[in-house]
Amino acid sequence: MPKVSAAELFRRGFNFTPARVARAPGRLEVLGNHTDYNEGLVMSVAVDRYIEIAASPRTDGRIELVSSVFPQRERFAVTDIQRNPEAPWADYVKGVLLELRRKGVHFSGFSAAIDSSIPLGAGMSSSAALEVATALVVREMYPYALNEQGAADVPPARDRQGRLSGLGIKERLSLARLCQAAENRFVGVNCGLLDQISSLFGKAHHVLSIDCRFQTVAHAPLVGEAMVVCNTGVKHALVGGEYNALREHCESAARALQAKSLRSVEMSYLKANKDRLSPREYECAYHVVGEIQRVVYAERALREDDHRQFGQYLFQSHESSRDFLRNSCPELDLLVDLARRHGACLGSRLTGGGFGGATISLVAYHEVEAFMEHMASAYEQQTGRKLEPVVCQVVDGAG
Ligand code: GLA
Repeated sequence: MPKVSAAELFRRGFNFTPARVARAPGRLEVLGNHTDYNEGLVMSVAVDRYIEIAASPRTDGRIELVSSVFPQRERFAVTDIQRNPEAPWADYVKGVLLELRRKGVHFSGFSAAIDSSIPLGAGMSSSAALEVATALVVREMYPYALNEQGAADVPPARDRQGRLSGLGIKERLSLARLCQAAENRFVGVNCGLLDQISSLFGKAHHVLSIDCRFQTVAHAPLVGEAMVVCNTGVKHALVGGEYNALREHCESAARALQAKSLRSVEMSYLKANKDRLSPREYECAYHVVGEIQRVVYAERALREDDHRQFGQYLFQSHESSRDFLRNSCPELDLLVDLARRHGACLGSRLTGGGFGGATISLVAYHEVEAFMEHMASAYEQQTGRKLEPVVCQVVDGAG
């Protein structure tokens, strides 16, 4: 069946044309695995896979959602936003609505159709894109301006074509935090800010460097290589608890070292204080402290245009995730090994939460096709699983 747009999905689902459309991109974590919630450094890109939502306000105080991915409709009252175990995908929308309300944003009912071109469970952060797209489509229908205190008294203006003024940096950050809070509080995944910031701050042809302690974002150009995503086909479900467990090990390690977070811990200090940590805490801290250091070195390599060296940090990152954080799996390890064997690949690693999902490989543009063929045939030969590598374009963020 050919893919339809969110607007078309809306027309089919509700029999009229939607008033507003908003979309938010997925992201790839380029380097910095599980560093974000440790107040560390992380590099990422927003990519040309989106969650798009078409919506229209309603006057009966009800919200009705249809999705291109999940067959059942979800219906509820604005005044009664609850989890529905039959439709966990809608939790991301509901969580954002509750956080908006907590911030004092006024909105009423609406009908919405959600379309996704982000593969689920591939570590490309469809959840954050859904959160961000929800916040933006509500803003389109019920304009609000957000700051750290909450909704501002004056909503944003529309121009003559009815377009809202764009989001400023501070407002983007407030929105990213709001979406993160939705995921932490309502969905129950204690994720950091990486995914939401990437979706809102992405810049075409650039890598984002995010400092999660100071919550600042810088952009560095990355041209010449393609980002190839290889999805193991092994599902990762962050809600499964492994993610939260890793976070707890990291936080208890920081507490045992009397540090505000692992960002403040030097490798030499960590090694000297190994006996204050449980073996698992030490492993997780060892990964995070080393990984933050790798991001610093990688930023320098990128500034100096040394992409081979930059790629080396990607390989090293994977080894550290595999051996110390232990959030890899045999299929991810195989994909990285296969990538490493191809001369056009500068670097490769698991991307995102781990425990399945996808790898990201940095590949010289002119050899991308050959690389993808090599990956697909070798992976299928060794696992019996089909692999469809995709080249992702680096795009601007939402809003
Ligand atoms: C998931 C989380 C992010 C980040 C990565 C791992 O994508 O949502 O906050 O922790 O895993 O780096």
